[in-house]
Amino acid sequence: MCTVLVTGGLGFIGSHTVVELQNEGFDVIIIDNLSNSSISVLDNITSITGIKPAYFNIDLKNKEAVQHFFNTNAVQGVIHFAAYKAVGESVLKPLDYYENNISSLVYLLQEMQKHQIHNFIFSSSCTVYGQADKLPITEDAPIKFAESPYGNTKQIGEEIIFDTTKASHLKAIALRYFNPIGAHKSAKIGELPIGIPQNLIPFVTQTAAGIREELSVFGSDYPTPDGTAIRDYIHVVDLAKAHIVSLKRLLNNNHKKTFEVFNIGTGKGNSVLEIIKTFEKVSGKKLKYKLVERREGDITAAYADTTIANTELGWKAEQTLEEALLSAWEWQKTLIT
Ligand code: UD1
Repeated sequence: MCTVLVTGGLGFIGSHTVVELQNEGFDVIIIDNLSNSSISVLDNITSITGIKPAYFNIDLKNKEAVQHFFNTNAVQGVIHFAAYKAVGESVLKPLDYYENNISSLVYLLQEMQKHQIHNFIFSSSCTVYGQADKLPITEDAPIKFAESPYGNTKQIGEEIIFDTTKASHLKAIALRYFNPIGAHKSAKIGELPIGIPQNLIPFVTQTAAGIREELSVFGSDYPTPDGTAIRDYIHVVDLAKAHIVSLKRLLNNNHKKTFEVFNIGTGKGNSVLEIIKTFEKVSGKKLKYKLVERREGDITAAYADTTIANTELGWKAEQTLEEALLSAWEWQKTLIT
């Protein structure tokens, strides 16, 4: 049995990845400090898979606690999700973001090196590309100056990992996610935004549920067919599965370089208005929305070229936008009742 540590395993992407790991026969240990998640997710994971993962409430900024964990637990690989992720907040509290996202990564890698754990999967983001010059975006597109401290922690994180792979036996894969949406088909786990959602889909589902009055569409004068911004929305379960194939690639030594990066998206771009229209179709709910000014820092369009992920990882997004939006809506409905 292969044991995998999943940091941030009670979060949105982490919890879906834990379910897929368990479905594939991995033994999972979760570390999560509940800073942006709920302990109830542990029971919900258990009720989907029938297996309760081991869980430790550890803050990865606490170096001694991280050391103690690795001194007392044996794992063969680490999937590292635990991080702060709110772009706007990161602009207001840059040092919190650097302290949290960077020190936790360094402590993990130090302990992995000490205990000779060589397999590491890192949550990166398409945010590293900024507004790419060419669409769809390939992995060799230049990394742009980070728009936010959050984005910068992803860039710096990748650099730290790359340097570590050069200086040790570490093998690592950074997955650059496009826009993860949706929820597990059981509707037992999904996205749990705290307060007013900053991301589009939770705002859409909360508006449909009557929790928010109206959706603001940020910008209708972008140089796109309908004037609204374009993103690549990927079902979170497809995204979770990309972690499993990446981990297996490292465990089976099928990697081509000790540090690899892959775009994880659908390869398709959809505008905000297309999202609204598709959501209305699958949910049967009319969405109240208004067109407002662009949001600062937003780019016009981003969608992935997934050729390398398809060919190298043998992975491909399978679920449609309709399925993703419907699952997000089914999940939202469980939160109101
Ligand atoms: C954002 C982050 C990205 C991060 C990701 C994590 C920025 C610039 N980027 O991506 O770095 O990895 O979240 O989830 O913040 N929109 C509206 N109305 C809303 C909310 C969003 O029109 O109420 C629009 C946005 O302008 C954008 C699209 O919907 O065009 C998607 O927005 P969002 O879900 O916030 O994701 P990103 O901004 O692409």
